[in-house]
Amino acid sequence: MKSQNPHTHNPNIPQPIREQDGAGGTDPGPRDVMRDIENPDMLVPPVTDHGGVPNAKFSFSDTHMRLQPGGWARQVTTKELPISVSIAGVNMRLNPGGVRELHWHTANEWAFMLTGRARITAVDQNGRNFVDDVGPGDLWFFPAGIPHSIQGLVEGCEFLLIFDQGDFSENNTFSISDWLAHTPIDVLAANFGVTERAFSNIAHEEKYIFPADVPGSLQGDKVTSPAGVVPQTFSHHMLRQQPIQSSGGKVWITDSNTFPVTTISAALVEVEPGGMREMHWHPNADEWQYYIQGTARMTLFAAQGTANTFNYRAGDVGFIPMVWGHYIQNTGDKKLIFLEIFKSPRYADVSLNQWMALTPPELVEANLNVGPDVISALNKTKSPVVKYPSS
Ligand code: CO
Ligand code: CO
Repeated sequence: MKSQNPHTHNPNIPQPIREQDGAGGTDPGPRDVMRDIENPDMLVPPVTDHGGVPNAKFSFSDTHMRLQPGGWARQVTTKELPISVSIAGVNMRLNPGGVRELHWHTANEWAFMLTGRARITAVDQNGRNFVDDVGPGDLWFFPAGIPHSIQGLVEGCEFLLIFDQGDFSENNTFSISDWLAHTPIDVLAANFGVTERAFSNIAHEEKYIFPADVPGSLQGDKVTSPAGVVPQTFSHHMLRQQPIQSSGGKVWITDSNTFPVTTISAALVEVEPGGMREMHWHPNADEWQYYIQGTARMTLFAAQGTANTFNYRAGDVGFIPMVWGHYIQNTGDKKLIFLEIFKSPRYADVSLNQWMALTPPELVEANLNVGPDVISALNKTKSPVVKYPSS
């Protein structure tokens, strides 16, 4: 047996020993060192952690991939992340020309384009239609029950889909091929006023994602409707908005103020190395996070002395219940990029710093046993991403 002194161990293999107070001991037993390295604040939690909060992290890398001829899809729902009752997420790839077939579903659908370009279509209940091309940083929103499709353009595409039901499953949508496959063929013929032979080649099961030719120009795909186009666009260029510039990074916020049709709001956050999304909470909704680039740590404060710290990296999902306190620290040497997504048409956060700055200072001093050094540093204007003072 090796000694308990951490300094005699291979420094590249982390041990559950906290330098600060000497708590813990080596882990000589079976272990997944790669995961321990990825989760330093779970292996050695900060001394301020206490009690247990529900799991607030799930990686898309730990989910089942549904491989299809035209692409793939995987999802994080309440099956994977039980705390996330308000939102489910799907990560999807469409190859060039690959089609996510014509379908509809029970939940509202919000999407963020990660890479490549796609063509999206929809028709509403009044026969007003919609077609557009979207690229990186663009969003779309399809209300529940409104039929739609997504197709990869020449470069293919990858995107994140958000559904405002935590137990929503991408494998349980209403697909056009599935319905026709389960309708008597004489009914199909009567419905469309054609012979039964016209339907002799239809699929016998849902196609879901399938390969197809890359579509031509957007203009050429515009079908003229006597009812016109949808009154509120289903797409939005999030990155064409002016971001909120902060000392440690920037934030783009899109909600129904800038994208009127949406009932789901979001913030895209960039945190420079050495920066941190400040301590805050959300008064109106849970937060569902998707990490796009970099590494982060976040502590969830759940009241009653309960706080747990989690580590995140690109491809991970995080979750914070409504009103729970949190921060997100960039733990890497490159820019951290992540999305905050809310089942609410309006984005809202409460800044701890701003709250304290706008409260009588004597009251804050007495409450926290702090002095004028803290009070004079408070910021009456919200600064969503802060930078650590150089020590
Ligand atoms: Co959909
Ligand atoms: Co937040």
